[in-house]
Amino acid sequence: MAENADKITPATLYPNHVSSSKLTNGLCHQTEQNGTQLLGKEPWWKAGVFYQVYPASFMDSNGDGWGDIPGLISKLDYLSDLGVDCVWLSPVFDSPQADMGYDVRDYQAIYAPYGTAEDVDRLTEECHRRGMKLILDLVVNHTSVEHAWFQESRSSKTSPKRDWYIWKPARYNSQGERIPPTNWRGYFACPTWTWDEETQEYYLHLYAPDQPDLNWENPDCRDAIYKETMRFWLDRGVDGFRIDTVNKYSKRTEYQDAPVTDPRWESQPAPEMWCNGPRIHEFIHEMNEKALAPYQAVSVGELSNMAGPADVLPYVGAARRELDMVFEFSMIRLGTGGGFGPKYIYQPYTLPTLKRHVARFQTFIEGTDGWTTVFCENHDNGRAVSRFGDSGSGAELWRASARTLALWQATLTGTLFLYQGQEIGMVNMPAAWGIEEYKDVESRNFYADASASGDRDRVDKTMHGLRILARDHSRIPFQWDGEARNAGFSDADETWMRVHDGYRDINVKKQTGDPASVLEFWRRLLKIRKKYPDVFVHGVFRSLRDEDLQRYVYVKESKLDVNGKPGTKRRALVVMNWSKEVQEPENVNEVLGCSAESAHFLVSTTDGCRERAQLDAALEPWEGRIYTNFQP
Ligand code: GLC
Ligand code: CA
Repeated sequence: MAENADKITPATLYPNHVSSSKLTNGLCHQTEQNGTQLLGKEPWWKAGVFYQVYPASFMDSNGDGWGDIPGLISKLDYLSDLGVDCVWLSPVFDSPQADMGYDVRDYQAIYAPYGTAEDVDRLTEECHRRGMKLILDLVVNHTSVEHAWFQESRSSKTSPKRDWYIWKPARYNSQGERIPPTNWRGYFACPTWTWDEETQEYYLHLYAPDQPDLNWENPDCRDAIYKETMRFWLDRGVDGFRIDTVNKYSKRTEYQDAPVTDPRWESQPAPEMWCNGPRIHEFIHEMNEKALAPYQAVSVGELSNMAGPADVLPYVGAARRELDMVFEFSMIRLGTGGGFGPKYIYQPYTLPTLKRHVARFQTFIEGTDGWTTVFCENHDNGRAVSRFGDSGSGAELWRASARTLALWQATLTGTLFLYQGQEIGMVNMPAAWGIEEYKDVESRNFYADASASGDRDRVDKTMHGLRILARDHSRIPFQWDGEARNAGFSDADETWMRVHDGYRDINVKKQTGDPASVLEFWRRLLKIRKKYPDVFVHGVFRSLRDEDLQRYVYVKESKLDVNGKPGTKRRALVVMNWSKEVQEPENVNEVLGCSAESAHFLVSTTDGCRERAQLDAALEPWEGRIYTNFQP
C-alpha cells in the first residue's frame, strides 16, 4: 500500500477550526448524548425517513398478481420496525396504466386492483396509528387521455375546457405536408405533439401520447387541480405529496422550434422550452398557498434537467414558500446518455464524478434557508447495488457493497428517501432475461426505436443499457420470503412482472434477525442517524480525496460542540472502500482534528459479520466505517 500521499490536515479541512458557539452551556449539556433536543424545532420531515412504495409490486393481498393497498397495510409494522417515518405511495389513482398510474383518469378514485378510496383512508389511519405519515404521488403536469377533463377538452374547439390542455394548429412544410407546431422531442422516445382528427389540432404531451399536458396558464384549470386533486386528499387526511415533474408546469409560450442538435431525428430535445419556464415559481408558490400551506402538508418535488444548485435553490428556500424539498437528479442519472435521445446507451463514469455530484447537492444549502434530499433509488432507475455497488461478483461483495451504500446514504445531509427493496439489497433483473420481461413504456419505446433503426449495434447497446438502467428493475415484485411462492409477494399463478430468480437468496425473511444482513444493518444505521441528527441529517458535508478512484471519504460536522466545549465541533468521519481491492485507512484522529484517545469507532459494515478491525486497519473490499470525535 502506498503512503498517504495527499495528507489531510485539520487546517485545510476546518478553516474555522475554533468557532464561537452561540449555544448556552445548558443546551450543549443536554445534547451530549445526541443532537435531537437541540434540533427539536426543525420540521419533522427533515430528520424523517421516507420510504417509497410502488403499489403494484409491494404486497398482493388477494392473489391477483398485483400489489394492493390492503397488502401494504399488512406490512406497515415491517416499515415501522425498520425506522420509517413516512410512506410515499406511488400513484394509486384510477388510470388506464399507460405509464403505471402516472396517467390519471380520475384523481378521486382508486385503480380497482389497488383498492378503494376507503382503503386509502384506512392506510392513512394505520400509518398515523404507528406514528408514521403518508404522502401520495401527485401527477398534475398531465392527465390520462381518458380523464373527463381531456375528453371534454378534445370534444370541440369551443368546449369550456378546451384551454385546459395545450392545443395548437398544424404547420405545413414547403411540400404542403402537415407538421407539428414545434419540432420538440419528449420523453419515452416520443415527439411531443399528437394530431386530433376530430378537431383538427395537435395537443402537447411531454410524455406518452396517452398523457396530455394540462395548461397551467389557465387559472380555472389550476384551481381545479388544487381543489379536486390536492385538497380532496388532504381533506381526507393524507400528509402531503411527492409532486411529479414539478418544474414543467410553465412552458415557454412562444412555442418555437428547438435548435437542431441531432439532424438524424425529426424531433429534437427541447427541455429548455418546458422546464423552469417563465411562470414556474409563481405557479408553485400559488400551489403552496392555496393547497399545501393551509394543511401544513409536506411536499417533495421531482426536479429534473437542472443546470445547477443556483437554479434549484429558489424552489426550496423556506422563505419563498414553494416546496419543502426536491429530488435533484444529476447523481442518479449517471451512466445514462441523457433523457431524450440515447438515454439507454450506457456512459461509463468514475467515482470522482459521482462524488462531485453528491458534494454539490450536499453543500448548496449551506448558509441558506433551503433543504436537500438523499436518495439513490426510485421507481425510475435500476437498483443501486447493481449500478453503484457490486452485485455481480458473489454474495460477499453483494452484501458488503449493499451495506456500504447504506452507510453512504444514512450519513448524508438532507431528508433520506429509501425505495422498497433497497433495504434488503434487491438487485437488477437477471441479465439473461430478454426484452419481453421489460414492461415499462420507456424501455419498450427505446428498444423499439433502436430496432426500427435496423442498426444491430444500437439494439445491442440499448439492451445493454437497459440491463443496467431500466426503470423495470425497481418494479419487479418485492422479495419477502425465500420459501414462499412468488417470493411471498403473491399467491397468483402469474404476477404482473416476473419474480426475480434470486429471491431465495435475497429476501426479508432470511435477513430478519441476522446481524450480518443488509436489512439489519439498515435498521441499525437508521437508529444511528436518528440519534445524531446534528451530524448526519444537518451536518456540514466536507469531501476529502475527491480524485481517489476507490476510496470515498468525507467528514460531517455538527453545529454542536463536543461535550459543550466551545470550538470542538462534533464530527464524524465516513471512510468507504468502493472497490474490490483492499485500501489503506485514514489517519483518523488527524482528519477528525482530535487526539488519538478522542477518536472513536462508531460502526463498520463488517459489524455482525466478523470481529471489528482496529481503528487504523486497512479497509476490506467494499468496507465502510464511521468514526467520531465524540464518545458514541
Ligand atoms: C415522473 C415519474 C415517472 C413518470 C413521469 C411521467 O418522472 O417518476 O415514472 O413516467 O414522471 O409522469
Ligand atoms: Ca392484488
